[in-house]
Amino acid sequence: MTEQKIEGQGEKTEEVLILAVESSCDETAAAVVQNGRQVLSNVISSQIDLHTLFGGVVPEIASRKHIERINQVISQALQDSGKCLEEMTAIAVTYGPGLVGALLVGVAEAKAIAFAAKKPLIGVHHIEGHVSANFIEHPDLEPPFLCLIVSGGHTHLVIVKDYGEFEILGRTRDDAAGEAFDKVARAVGLGYPGGPKIDRAAREGNPHAMEFPRARVGEHPYDFSFSGLKSAVLNYINHARMTGEEICVPDLAASFQNAVVEVLVSRTMEAAAAFGCRRVAIAGGVASNTALREGMKEACGKAGLAFYYPSPIFCTDNAAMIGAAAYYEYRKGNRAGWDLNAVPGLRLGER
Ligand code: KG4
Ligand code: ZN
Repeated sequence: MTEQKIEGQGEKTEEVLILAVESSCDETAAAVVQNGRQVLSNVISSQIDLHTLFGGVVPEIASRKHIERINQVISQALQDSGKCLEEMTAIAVTYGPGLVGALLVGVAEAKAIAFAAKKPLIGVHHIEGHVSANFIEHPDLEPPFLCLIVSGGHTHLVIVKDYGEFEILGRTRDDAAGEAFDKVARAVGLGYPGGPKIDRAAREGNPHAMEFPRARVGEHPYDFSFSGLKSAVLNYINHARMTGEEICVPDLAASFQNAVVEVLVSRTMEAAAAFGCRRVAIAGGVASNTALREGMKEACGKAGLAFYYPSPIFCTDNAAMIGAAAYYEYRKGNRAGWDLNAVPGLRLGER
C-alpha cells in the first residue's frame, strides 16, 4: 500500500485500490476503483441477449453464465486497470439484495480471491452501490443529500445522511419503477428489458395522448405505487385488442413514461422541500431514463437545487459503483468475515 497526497486535499491519505465484483442479477461485472472516486477499469459482461429469449431474467441461466464468465471478467478488469492483484488494498463484492444463485457466484469468487491474496474482504449492499455511482463523476458530492433510487427491483426515496447511512423516507408499495417499465413493455410487445425500449419509443410519442393514473399512498406522502398505473395500461392494451383498435406504441410509451416520471419527480421535490435538502441525486437503472433525467433537471433548476446523476453506464448494474461504496465501508473499518453469505432479501440500511 502506498501513501499519496490526494488532489485538492491537504492531508496525506492512503491510496486505496479496490477490486469490486458484482453479480446480483444478469450482469457479470468487475472493476478497479481508486479512493472511491476514480474508476481505473469497469468491465461488464451482460447476459441480456440470453434472457431476452425468455422475456425476463431466468435465475438458473444467470447463475450458470456468471460462473462461466466471472474469472475472465475479473482478469480483464485487473488488466484494464494497469494494476495487479497484489496491489489491491481490498476485495469487495455485492452480497445482497439480488438473486441468490447469482449473488453466490460473486461472493464465493471474491472470498476465494481475498483469502488466497490475503486481502480484506468487504461486503457491499447493492443499493448502496447504486447510490455511490453518483460519487464517481461528481467529486464535489458528499452526504447529506436526497436520493431517488429507481431500479428493476427497488424504488426508494432516501436521505443519504452519511456514507452508507440512509434515512428511508419512502418506498414502493408494490412494483418497482423498473419492473413497471418492463411489464408494460412486454405487454405492448417491445420485449425485454423494457426500460430502454419504452424510453426510445417514447421519443416519437405524445406524452399527453392517454391519461393514466398517478397514485398517492394514503398517509405516506413519500411512498410510491405503480401497480394501478400498470393495470390501467394493461387494461388499455386489452381493450384496444378486443375492439380491434390500433395501439399507437410511441404514444402509449410516452404517456406511461410521463405518468411514472411525474410521480417520481413531484414526490422527490416535495421531499426536498419538506426536509430542506439542497442536493438531489438519482440512482439505479431507471435513472438512465431520458425523461426522468430531464424532468429532474428542470424541477431542480426551478427550485434552485443542485442535481446529480450518473452516466447511463454507472446507472445500470456495474462493479465500479460497488467499488465506490466499498471504499467508504473500508474507511469506516467494515470488513466481512470468511462466513460472508449471499443475502437475497437484504434491506437498505441492514448489514
Ligand atoms: O439497476 P438495474 O440495472 O438493476 C437492478 O438493480 O434492478 O435496473 C434495471 C432496470 C430494469 O427494470 C430496466 O428496464 C430499467 O432499469 N431501465 C430503464 C432504462 N434503462 C434501464 N428504465 C427506464 N428507462 C431507461 N432508459
Ligand atoms: Zn441494480
